[in-house]
Amino acid sequence: MTWKQMFTSSIGKKLVMGLTGIFLITFLIVHVGINACVFADLPVFNRDDNGEMFNKAAHFMGSTVLIRIMEIGLFAGIILHIVQGYLLTLQNQKSRGVAYNKPMGNNGSKWYSRSMGLLGTLILLFLILHLAHFWVPARFTHVGLDPVLYNNVLMHDMFQLMKITFSELWIVVLYVLGCFSLFWHLMHGFQSAFRSLGISNKKHLSLLNCIGNGFSVIVSLLFALIPIAMYLQWVG
Ligand code: HEM
Repeated sequence: MTWKQMFTSSIGKKLVMGLTGIFLITFLIVHVGINACVFADLPVFNRDDNGEMFNKAAHFMGSTVLIRIMEIGLFAGIILHIVQGYLLTLQNQKSRGVAYNKPMGNNGSKWYSRSMGLLGTLILLFLILHLAHFWVPARFTHVGLDPVLYNNVLMHDMFQLMKITFSELWIVVLYVLGCFSLFWHLMHGFQSAFRSLGISNKKHLSLLNCIGNGFSVIVSLLFALIPIAMYLQWVG
């Protein structure tokens, strides 16, 4: 397959979606793992953590050169995934318009498999708001970020910024809705990404489905619990 075919043929587009999808799944695992450090402040673990574990992890990610370089790859992956996603959605809509007179409903496929473009758009809207909340201050403006000192190293108090951001109910509601969209997007996207790489054996497919469903629930729930825990002051 040539580079041109990779971006223009439908099989090439599926492959790009699969590869970028797996890359973004890896990012989600790292991101949710680092964010889950805020739970170190839960009374059952360490009442006095006060965001130290999370701040140290966020500082490591922000100050390590290799990770900053990977961040460029992450944004390139996100953009490629979005562009190819819209092209595939358009292509599917065109072929569906010719093939069926009546929608087949769940007999053909699940509603969320048919709504990947819409779910992806909701995640994109969430992402724009989310980057403005945390990534822009962390990397560029430093607005709302107080310094905090751990073991003689000065860091940004991202934990404090999260606490302030998630003290507003409407923001918490938008984040939970964003995580809900992510959940449905992953319910189809996880297994679809691996299928694009050629997994077709029936036994492997049902295992892939189980892992995909478990992954979607755990990751989305963990993400959603962070703004909720901060708003309800379970942590912080
Ligand atoms: C809902 C709970 C979430 C919280 C509390 C959260 C928190 C954060 C924070 C604090 C940062 C800035 C990190 C830094 O630069 O030091 C960040 C960055 C980022 N987040 Fe989230 N995040 C959440 C969910 C998500 C979801 C669901 C996605 C993707 C669908 C996502 C995608 C990103 C991206 C792409 C960045 C910028 C790259 C990076 O800094 O690693 N986040 N997030």
